Amino acid sequence: MPVVAMILSRYRDSLPFAGMNVACCLHLEAKTAYTAYVLKEGGARVALCGSNPLTTQDDVAAALSARGVEVHARYGLDAKEYYENMHAVLDTRPNVVIDDGGDLAHLLHTERTELLAGVRGLCEETTTGVLRLAAMARESSLRFPAIAVNDARCKHLFDNRYGTGQSTMDGIMRTTNRIIAGKTVVVAGYGWCGKGIALRAKGMGARVIVTEVDPVKAIEAHMDGFAVMPMADAAPQGDFFVTATGCADVISHDHFPLMKDGAVLCNAGHFDVEVNVRRLAAMADGRKQSRANIESFRLGSRWIHVLGEGRLVNLACADGHPAEIMDMSFALQLRCAEYLAATALEPGLYPVPEAIDMEVARMKLSAESLAIDTLTQAQEAYLSSWRHGT
Ligand code: ADE
Repeated sequence: MPVVAMILSRYRDSLPFAGMNVACCLHLEAKTAYTAYVLKEGGARVALCGSNPLTTQDDVAAALSARGVEVHARYGLDAKEYYENMHAVLDTRPNVVIDDGGDLAHLLHTERTELLAGVRGLCEETTTGVLRLAAMARESSLRFPAIAVNDARCKHLFDNRYGTGQSTMDGIMRTTNRIIAGKTVVVAGYGWCGKGIALRAKGMGARVIVTEVDPVKAIEAHMDGFAVMPMADAAPQGDFFVTATGCADVISHDHFPLMKDGAVLCNAGHFDVEVNVRRLAAMADGRKQSRANIESFRLGSRWIHVLGEGRLVNLACADGHPAEIMDMSFALQLRCAEYLAATALEPGLYPVPEAIDMEVARMKLSAESLAIDTLTQAQEAYLSSWRHGT
């Protein structure tokens, strides 16, 4: 992660978080641990909890804890312990918060409002979390400045698209050891994550069906060369189903009875609500653990397989996005956290400052030894003028 490494060497001199408490709720795998370590080297007291019960890697948690970060996370915990860990992180009275999915923001605005006054700001990593912050901002209930890191160009164009595309297919392949070529992959949702998954599945030789509720995204999927249809029509055709909508009950009781024997279901969205596994379990007349991370449900003569309990397949069944991708996402998080530590802002939802997005892009280009052109003064004048006609 060369971009984060550049930030680390700067932080060791400038200590931008000296005297500050930073609370993180993140998927704890190696790239996350490195980022938390960078915050600590930047002078912060850092406390971290997991942002999903199945996405903490225990060896990574132990290593991070040994390097001076307060870790409240372990793999496979139940809802009670998951929330206890979040409270333990908030007990450190954070000044800056880094959230993935909005759980810390939610607790701060409900059960831990006594801490709000000390929070200078929060950075949110994911689409789901940003949607929630936007809903709070619309109701004027957001009580601190929050930065929508997800919406930076250096985040969603790469992390959501290429990161989710690759890590989702990685999770499916590692877990099932099935061939993708020649199969039908149904991708629910054609946002940046869905686009990336559909692209990678197509590249691996699958026939891809996209389901959507947004007519514009549906046309986009159609023109990108994918079959587009409602889930009820896709259900009998799919070998693999991947949800990436952010919405609940995308695959549910209407669809399970229509599916082929051996259909594999998984989710790439933040919460485990997209595939209604509870409904599937209630409808099933048998269930078994087929392999690690595969639970199989029998509906009459057919078996339907669910990966990673319907939780984020790329993290619950694999290692999350590749390091080259998280390098940019976490560089943005670090720079935005630094910005919040140094800047007093009014409560509200803010975009990532353009200068930070461009800086991360330039650092990434330099890390990849890529050079680009620069506008001449005449070109800049041309682009900013309205006086040139045909
Ligand atoms: N690794 C750490 N956080 C991640 C995220 N939000 N998505 C994918 N991989 C990750």
